Amino acid sequence: MQILKRTVSKPSAFFSLNLIKVSLTNLLIPLYRHHHCYYHHQHNIKSFSRTMSVSAISDELKKLGLSQPDPVKESLPEYNIVDVFKNYITDELHRITEADKSIIFDALDTPKVLDQGDIIVALPRLRIKGIKPNEKSQEWAEQFNKGKFISEARPQGVFIQFFFNRSLVYDLVIKDVLKRKTEYGYLPLGVGKKAIVEFSSPNIAKPFHAGHLRSTIIGGFISNLYEKLGWEVVRINYLGDWGKQFGLLAVGFEKYGSEEQLAKDPINHLFEVYVKVNNDVREEASEATGEPAVADAADADEKKVQASSTNEKARQFFRRMEDGDESALKIWRRFRDLSIDKYIDTYARLNIKYDYYSGESQVPQEKMKEATKLFEDKGLVHVDRGAKLIDLTKFNKKLGKALVEKSDGTSLYLTRDVGEAIKRYETYKFDKMIYVIASQQDLHCQQFFEILKQMGFEWAKNLEHINFGMVQGMSTRKGNVVFLDNILQETKEKMHDVMKKNADKYAQIEEPDKIAELVGISAVMIQDFQSKRILNYEFKWDRMTSFEGDTGPYLQYAHSRLSSMQRKSDISEEELENANFDLLTEPCAANLVRTLLQYPDIIRRASHNNEPSTIVTYLFTLCHIVSQCYDILWVAGQEREVATARLALYAATKQVIYNGMTLLGLTPVERM
Ligand code: ARG
Repeated sequence: MQILKRTVSKPSAFFSLNLIKVSLTNLLIPLYRHHHCYYHHQHNIKSFSRTMSVSAISDELKKLGLSQPDPVKESLPEYNIVDVFKNYITDELHRITEADKSIIFDALDTPKVLDQGDIIVALPRLRIKGIKPNEKSQEWAEQFNKGKFISEARPQGVFIQFFFNRSLVYDLVIKDVLKRKTEYGYLPLGVGKKAIVEFSSPNIAKPFHAGHLRSTIIGGFISNLYEKLGWEVVRINYLGDWGKQFGLLAVGFEKYGSEEQLAKDPINHLFEVYVKVNNDVREEASEATGEPAVADAADADEKKVQASSTNEKARQFFRRMEDGDESALKIWRRFRDLSIDKYIDTYARLNIKYDYYSGESQVPQEKMKEATKLFEDKGLVHVDRGAKLIDLTKFNKKLGKALVEKSDGTSLYLTRDVGEAIKRYETYKFDKMIYVIASQQDLHCQQFFEILKQMGFEWAKNLEHINFGMVQGMSTRKGNVVFLDNILQETKEKMHDVMKKNADKYAQIEEPDKIAELVGISAVMIQDFQSKRILNYEFKWDRMTSFEGDTGPYLQYAHSRLSSMQRKSDISEEELENANFDLLTEPCAANLVRTLLQYPDIIRRASHNNEPSTIVTYLFTLCHIVSQCYDILWVAGQEREVATARLALYAATKQVIYNGMTLLGLTPVERM
């Protein structure tokens, strides 16, 4: 296989339409088909504009006659300006207190409000025995050598509050953001490591429900986040593409299928066929037995549907698939390939592109057997009415007994996950593998993680389940959303309606259709990302598409407003970088700079909790603070020097909003 290496230079035009970048990258990645799976070649995202020298912050300090304070091991002072200051404070506190440097560094916090300082330390956290923190805070604050970095060290009870030298911070932060652009926030914590992120994983011929939507967007975010941390990321979609439903589908397609419709809209058409053939089975079965119809023939107990002749045909068809009968596989493969083609387009609307479409069909038989065999050897397999169960209670009471093989010898969801994980490790030798799956499958994940661990795979400890709660009430006005495409279409229409309500503004929008699409998607995603993942939430069309309150459209609006401010000005990028930031004397500017300064730490926090809400909350804070500046920090009608400093601050803010939005997977709009 040929490996495609390419370097994409970073967008040079400051005011470039960043939208284009996203779609261009998509086009540049070739698509390879291999057998019945698709490989997207591992594209070298890391080389993407990581052209900036790593000593950027040191260089800037040097220009100011300063050098990097002695770095604490876990700090990243070439990427995170807060760490420059933290290293300085650590060094000084260490000199004064002799406490361990890494303990000091860990004890340095960012207070919520500016008047408590830029960094605060609670002296008890330094773990020094036999001191009175109240008195020591006075004494140590006095002994603290402020140098060029700190303007004030203020004792406050058991705390010392540190205020950064404002003009130094302004100079470092605004320039750093303007120079690094999309790279601001990048932290090389995972360089050289590989992460697999499996997410979305819908079932072919079945509805793409809210759980799949959440997995898709949360997984997209997690993948982007890991890339921002320097990891090599492999995005995998593990399709539900195997099982009796394909037997039903094949039988149903003969009866109800249309080649034309299949080509046009495979996902919806296959679902239609599935619904019809499923109905046939239900009716045949309940007619024969007089019992009420089952919900889903593919998942139902075989005894309940065996009276149906359609079911019998479907069962036989699936049996042929399992036995490797090429004529059966050919039909199945076509349904699968056409569905994937369509998925690729739909995911692209969400800026998501998979490296590999895997699926339950792709799991090698022998990998699954290994697990059962091992547990048999350990004496942990029970046979119950022909089916095999393994007893996991021996390792953890809560895990119970897990069914690993059906009475007819066919594999199960759980065993497939075991086999697939082994295959993935052999293929990718990952350092971490993340599964983004709804919390309903918590037990399932714990079970297969435990099975892999008991099989002796050392890497089983590197498996992580990122879970999430449920969405209530996700349906369209027409009442039947079943696929991602429909959800996105409906959102776009709804957004369009909201936009039309402001007729004057609407008339000025150049591409209303495109804007409605992008803003609509932001509405859905922000609503989803707003609270902690594990919480359930209610899907509310009106609330999420509103421009008021903390919504996706509001975020887009904030970004487009800053973009238009820059478009209207004739100040060059170079002038902005070299602005005189001492002219930014207003408190609202201080607030804004301080918030920009925090962005790398926000990324770090998100890397610990895997919460999109960490980024979303930060972005809304940033938007609120910048909107408070508009009335005070005017650009239009100001002297050029003042206008330049202010615009530089706004340009940096816009960049950070852009970075946060794209990290979440949104496409920021330049005008709306
Ligand atoms: N297709 C499954 C479903 O819709 C989700 C798959 C999750 N991933 C996994 N490795 N089990 O429920």
